[in-house]
Amino acid sequence: MATSSSSVSLLLISSLLLASLNEAKPSGPIVSGLSWTFYQKSCPNLESIVRKQLQKVFKKDIGQAAGLLRLHFHDCFVQGCDGSVLLEGSAAGPGEQQSIPNLTLRKQAFEIINDLRARVHKKCGRVVSCSDIVVLAARDSVVLSGGPDYDVPLGRRDGLGFATVNATLANLPPPFGNTTVILNSFGSKNLNAKETVALSGGHTIGISHCPAFTSRLYPTQDPTMDKTFAQNLKKACPTANSNNTTVLDIRSPNVFDNKYYVDLMNRQGLFTSDQDLYTDKRTRGIVTSFAVDQKLFFDEFAKAMIKMSQLSVLTGNQGEVRANCSVRNANNENFLASVVEEAVEEPGVWAGFM
Ligand code: HEM
Ligand SMILES: *[C@@H]1O[C@H](CO)[C@@H](O)[C@H](O)[C@H]1NC(C)=O
Ligand SMILES: *[C@@H]1O[C@H](CO)[C@@H](O)[C@H](O)[C@H]1NC(C)=O
Ligand SMILES: *[C@@H]1O[C@H](CO)[C@@H](O)[C@H](O)[C@H]1NC(C)=O
Ligand SMILES: *[C@@H]1O[C@H](CO)[C@@H](O)[C@H](O)[C@H]1NC(C)=O
Ligand SMILES: *[C@@H]1O[C@H](CO)[C@@H](O)[C@H](O)[C@H]1NC(C)=O
Ligand SMILES: *[C@@H]1O[C@H](CO)[C@@H](O)[C@H](O)[C@H]1NC(C)=O
Repeated sequence: MATSSSSVSLLLISSLLLASLNEAKPSGPIVSGLSWTFYQKSCPNLESIVRKQLQKVFKKDIGQAAGLLRLHFHDCFVQGCDGSVLLEGSAAGPGEQQSIPNLTLRKQAFEIINDLRARVHKKCGRVVSCSDIVVLAARDSVVLSGGPDYDVPLGRRDGLGFATVNATLANLPPPFGNTTVILNSFGSKNLNAKETVALSGGHTIGISHCPAFTSRLYPTQDPTMDKTFAQNLKKACPTANSNNTTVLDIRSPNVFDNKYYVDLMNRQGLFTSDQDLYTDKRTRGIVTSFAVDQKLFFDEFAKAMIKMSQLSVLTGNQGEVRANCSVRNANNENFLASVVEEAVEEPGVWAGFM
């Protein structure tokens, strides 16, 4: 499914032209401490520095957009959008240990964020948080893959510590979860069914490793899966633990569009968590509405992303602005406050996976 670099550039150009048409106007209240114009004085070129650099990165490999979008989701669902996912030693961060479950975030996503941080701080000084850079990178990944453009509120501060492995697993929904599991997970973040279905549309770009879905193939084939689709997945993953990847959206794997929902209606969703959104009566109508109306999907996706990007954020004097996204600032006087652990949750629904 290689996309030629010329068609990627065309895509980049056309999404730039479309950007002004698609822009979601900021509406509704935002979390106190965040602002639509937070860096207007302190780093006026922030958004153009990030977007221009990501245009270069994606021209080489549009797959990196998916890695950055997923990084943002993982940051926000575990301990809030505080950049904790980036910290060396976090369950998902660059210091990931062999002994803990592999959450398959792309190593390059961390490198891209660190590189953006260096470019931004070179121009503006250490005023922009790593957590805000993650939010901007995710938004631009959507835009530069062909999706909607939208403003994001900024002013997040970076967390001083990361979540335990168990807390990470307890907060991230598993791909083999049914709609009840997924709605409960998103509901615990105050995201409703429509927002859950819209955000699941993030799977319109990117890839998955075999073990996330092979329980639908072996030992018995999931009867809700299209038979030809299943046969092709078995070729990509001859065994349950094959070290291979496949695309999440077979119709347009590198384009941010509404084809993911068309896949679901054709029983070609990759994960149980995807396909069951069409099987379950509570979410089926929402899937159909997005499959037939891309503008509706784009509007709901942008709104839900803005909401997700404000989950348990740190603002004002909380946390810090990291000088290096991978490590907490060395001389932080709030260190003692940060070592107070939050209650440890059991991995629950993930038990036995990986
Ligand atoms: C509904 C619950 C969700 C589940 C169970 C889930 C699970 C997964 C899994 C298992 C993978 C494959 C990882 C791998 O094996 O490499 C994946 C990939 C991905 N997810 Fe999700 N996810 C969910 C929601 C989201 C949301 C809300 C977003 C963003 C809005 C998102 C964006 C992505 C992207 C872009 C990829 C591709 C990453 C890449 O190519 O590196 N996911 N997801
Ligand atoms: C974990 O994921 C990383 C990054 O995707 C990969 O390089 C590494 O090989 C994986 N480790 C295991 C044990 O699967
Ligand atoms: C994490 O969860 C596992 C499995 O439920 C459990 O055995 C372990 O004790 C937990 N670890 C901590 C630190 O609570
Ligand atoms: C969904 O999954 C949960 C947890 O595995 C299970 O208890 C429940 O029965 C399932 N619900 C449906 C409708 O299949
Ligand atoms: C990986 O998947 C591709 C198809 O997606 C398949 O052609 C290839 O044989 C697979 N590789 C392995 C090692 O199974
Ligand atoms: C899995 O595949 C990747 C490349 O696709 C390779 O770098 C890695 O070494 C492989 N891991 C194993 C355990 O074979
Ligand atoms: C950031 O911290 C990591 C982890 O300590 C280190 O490997 C890396 O070199 C640091 N980067 C910079 C630019 O200092």
